[in-house]
Amino acid sequence: MLIDSFDRKIDYIRVSVTSRCNFRCLYCMPNTPFDWEPKENLLSYEEMFEFLKVAIDNGIKKIRLTGGEPLIRKDLDKFIKMIANYAPDIDLALTTNGYFLKNTAKLLKDAGLKRINISLDSLKKDTYEKIAKKDVFAKVIDGIEEAQKVGLKVKLNSVILKGINDNEILDLYEYSKNKNITIRFIEYMENNTADSHLKGVPSDEVLKILQKAHTFIKLERENSPAVYYKDENGYIFGLISPHDDSFCKNCNRIRLTAEGYLIPCLFFNESYQIREAVKKGDIKGAAKVLEQVIREKPEKNDWQNEVSDRAFYETGG
Ligand code: 5AD
Ligand code: SF4
Repeated sequence: MLIDSFDRKIDYIRVSVTSRCNFRCLYCMPNTPFDWEPKENLLSYEEMFEFLKVAIDNGIKKIRLTGGEPLIRKDLDKFIKMIANYAPDIDLALTTNGYFLKNTAKLLKDAGLKRINISLDSLKKDTYEKIAKKDVFAKVIDGIEEAQKVGLKVKLNSVILKGINDNEILDLYEYSKNKNITIRFIEYMENNTADSHLKGVPSDEVLKILQKAHTFIKLERENSPAVYYKDENGYIFGLISPHDDSFCKNCNRIRLTAEGYLIPCLFFNESYQIREAVKKGDIKGAAKVLEQVIREKPEKNDWQNEVSDRAFYETGG
């Protein structure tokens, strides 16, 4: 079992398979062009899998594939199959912008994917285009529908930005409720890569807006950074509030980048490389780095006071 210095059980790893993305979301990507990591710097699926076996053998129970946009990397279904065959009971999930899902959802499900989180930031074509800097709305909606149709467990993620999509909070809620999909509203996490004019909307404001139309009971916090609420019809939605004092208390995760760096906390730039060990087939060495990352995992982020230097597209949100 992996226990960190603050007595948190770490049983969840988020694996970024590429930092590339076909969207340029305001809250994630820079406005100006920049260089991607060269493809030859990526760990291969086999190399990542060798490390994941170590992680699973040490107590990791949940793996989420992220990006960038993970569906940009070729043969993701084969990677999913490798993991699912090794550990059929693992909670295997994917976070995606939804754009490519219409044609891939079935393949992913058949490969062994269990759950999928899709970003949905607006229900308006023009607003979505303003956020993602691309006309994506119809494709995202098709993707959500397809994922549900093929039987994946779906959740939606919405980052609410002042003056951009904060007039759609209730609409996003009703859309998700009608489809019986849990939506989570995520507070914007300030970072230096994002558009510097952005302002987020605190979770308590989101809740207040929803409370004008619904009544909620707060559910017991599980091993997750989200806080869930149930409305008068039994529909459940979530709030993710990284600016809250209690946010990090239940943190159960570490992150692996596509280039082979383990990241103990999304807020900080610290990283520990496993790429050399994995490339040499030195599994013991990789296991040592894993132990070190768990040991060095910080107690909490500092979003209450600071902007993060980390580029989110390297690790997913
Ligand atoms: N703040 C909050 N959420 C973010 N995400 C990406 N960047 C940020 C940020 N700066 C979220 C997206 C998506 C997931 C991949 O991470 O909404 O759902
Ligand atoms: Fe791409 Fe996701 Fe970043 Fe948007 S938030 S630019 S979809 S990686």
